Amino acid sequence: MYANITSVGKFLPKNIIKNSEFENFLDTTDEWIKSRTGIEERRKLDPGKASSYMAIKAIEKLIKKIKLDIHQVDCIIVSTITPDMVFPSTACLIQNYFKIKNCWGFDLSAACSGFLFGLETANALIKSKIYKKIIVVGVDTMSSILDYQDRNTSILFGDGAGAVLVEPSKNYGIIDCELGVDGSGSEFLFMPGGGSLNKTSEKTLKNKMHYVKQNGAVVFKHAVKGMYDITKKIMLRNDINNKNLKLFIAHQANKRIIESTSQRLKLKKEQVLININKYANTTAASIPIAISDACDKKLIKKNDKIILTAFGAGFTWGSCLLKWGISSD
Ligand code: COA
Repeated sequence: MYANITSVGKFLPKNIIKNSEFENFLDTTDEWIKSRTGIEERRKLDPGKASSYMAIKAIEKLIKKIKLDIHQVDCIIVSTITPDMVFPSTACLIQNYFKIKNCWGFDLSAACSGFLFGLETANALIKSKIYKKIIVVGVDTMSSILDYQDRNTSILFGDGAGAVLVEPSKNYGIIDCELGVDGSGSEFLFMPGGGSLNKTSEKTLKNKMHYVKQNGAVVFKHAVKGMYDITKKIMLRNDINNKNLKLFIAHQANKRIIESTSQRLKLKKEQVLININKYANTTAASIPIAISDACDKKLIKKNDKIILTAFGAGFTWGSCLLKWGISSD
């Protein structure tokens, strides 16, 4: 038995921030951002709204596509590093919005790899035969933790959400998946304030500890190696190559990271999905948004083999091979 994705949905806020807007208050240019990252614009959520709002909108799309009876959902996994609040979990807020009966759920923190960690968790829960309909959401309101005076980080991220429904299937779904963590990378991408170590205080606010800190060059190198190594392993042990793989969906952090990884894997351009130009890095939302875009553009059809891969803060990383199970018409 496989754990199969049977419906997908995405949500992007309407408010578009073009690269050129950063030129008004930062020492940067549209040209620098485009050439170094591939990003042209990103979305920003309106003040007063939070991650649960975007997650609910993405789930509503997923429900509509297959006329899902939401009360059959038995578990909600929300991958995010920007929950509405530290507690209660965003999963509880989503359950309450839909008033789903007999369901449990939780938030999962694995940064940009969050969606893959959620998907593999759903895979294990489905294989336990205890759970039959699991929603996995990747959502992040990165604008809530960015320092807009820091040109190294503020230009890189955007807000968004993507959601999938995972159900048992005899023929389609996750064929293989491998994940990893290495906490020695924690000093290169992190948010020092707001947790139990540096509880929110005047000092943490003054020192801007409630914002993302990153050593971009170190993360870049580890991201290419991390995604290449683990995807190569998955490809080798499942006889996947550039002839039988339909689509490679990598976490959208930097166009150069995706190109470098896919070139090392000897994949052709048309096998690689890139949408970072429109949304920037939406952290846990990047892969489910990309899956949703691939479906909307009919880039994948039933029986196609696709690979999802991600790398993120932690460090965390993973790769997942699927036999796609949703028909494209
Ligand atoms: N505009 C203009 N110049 C900028 C800039 C910006 N927005 N951001 C950084 N620079 C400058 C740097 O200060 C540096 O200047 P210096 O040489 O005078 O010190 C110069 O550009 C080159 O910096 P460097 O870090 O070598 O650039 P880069 O080509 O590595 O690109 C990143 C920077 C952040 C885009 C890139 O390292 C990256 O994408 N890293 C991975 C980030 C990531 O994916 N994180 C999410 C988790 S997966």
